[in-house]
Amino acid sequence: WQTMPDILDLLGEQLEGEQLKLLAGIGRLADENNWGAYLVGGFVRDLLLGVPNLDLDIVVVGSAPKLAEKLSAEFGGNVRVHEKFNTATVHLPSDIKVDFATARKEFYEYPAALPTIEETNLREDLYRRDFTVNALAICLNRDEFGLLIDFFCGYSDLEEQRIRLLHNLSFIEDPTRILRAVRFEQRYQFQLEPQTAHVLSNAVAEEALKNISPDRVWNELKLIFAENDPVKSLRRLAELGIWPQIIPGLEWKNSIQESLNKVIPVITAVADITGVSLERWLVFLTVILRETDETSAVAWLDQLSITKEQRSSLKRCLEEDSAAMLQDLETPGPGELHKLLKDCSPLGMALILLFIKGQVEQNVYQYFRLRTRLPQLLKMDGKVLGKMGIEPGPVYGKVLFALEAAVLEGKVETVQDQQRFVRNWLESKGVL
Ligand code: CTP
Repeated sequence: WQTMPDILDLLGEQLEGEQLKLLAGIGRLADENNWGAYLVGGFVRDLLLGVPNLDLDIVVVGSAPKLAEKLSAEFGGNVRVHEKFNTATVHLPSDIKVDFATARKEFYEYPAALPTIEETNLREDLYRRDFTVNALAICLNRDEFGLLIDFFCGYSDLEEQRIRLLHNLSFIEDPTRILRAVRFEQRYQFQLEPQTAHVLSNAVAEEALKNISPDRVWNELKLIFAENDPVKSLRRLAELGIWPQIIPGLEWKNSIQESLNKVIPVITAVADITGVSLERWLVFLTVILRETDETSAVAWLDQLSITKEQRSSLKRCLEEDSAAMLQDLETPGPGELHKLLKDCSPLGMALILLFIKGQVEQNVYQYFRLRTRLPQLLKMDGKVLGKMGIEPGPVYGKVLFALEAAVLEGKVETVQDQQRFVRNWLESKGVL
């Protein structure tokens, strides 16, 4: 046991008064039942690193569901109990969520199986976890409120910026931890401790990740895509030779790096232009899957729990290559681009912007931005055409489309110019 006198200060700095009261409340309610209650996991790690995190995970040496019920009876909110796992989640009225888990030990009947669970003490609960930096706890019981519990030297690993396993079978028992190791290493700019690095490379050599379902891997990949700088972890997975075990047939070439670096700026640009926020994972995954052959990519996608729409939109992205088609145009103007890209979806737009290069890229950006101003620039619509005596029909769509292209080219600005353009166009087609 190691006393860290400044934990109370850190809690005071990171949490608001109401949140502190809540933690004290959890400790008091646990005391009333002679249970132990401890903050654990990412919250403790990030508190010590000074990183904001409000993911409150509590381990109860006693009954997690009962403690959750008591908390909610006093502080309000809803409780959801998961009997099977002996866990519970409380959503408080202040919008804070607290996860409670009864201290448990895990047995793996065979490598990569889902574990069998048995109630236990705090030490064993912490020992079943992934890395020492995630196996620290802070006591919430009143007499020891704020005491840092560090059975496995997690605090010195945090100080030394090390990701270290608690035991050598960890990656084999739970191969998702291979991906978690990379994610934490890159997120905090830590190093894999040498023995952990060795065990990791053995697990990779044994192709441990192939023993778990693509969905479990997929969940971890999504967490990587959600990191502040996912590309660092994606590159590191390549360096460690992990990709071929995740997505069969994927060969990591350096050229992918350029497109990956563009993903977040392109998503921001598309949101700016269209108001649509694309899901990051969808765009990252498209870039990555384009590096593999289509049959392997589709076979892999078919195993994931994603929606039908997401699956078909990903498959479409793999088939299309609008960027290559545009790249052949030397300096396309907005009118010409309008003819090719009028119906381009936000995702299609992102893919074009990701893969296009050089001057054409500038032109495409300019076109997409200009296009958002069309409603203000266009002075004519079906009503005006009607007033001009033009018989309604498919010709309306055609002439307005031609007008849009001309407006985007800056050729026809005023109402008069636009009417003249429409007349000339209709005459040239023999409609007028
Ligand atoms: N954990 C584990 N093995 C896993 C997943 C989780 O040991 N495969 C443990 C770790 O102790 C972790 C805790 O469960 O700290 C909570 O998991 P999670 O919320 O996924 O991780 P965080 O550490 O909170 O990470 P993040 O900051 O990314 O939320």
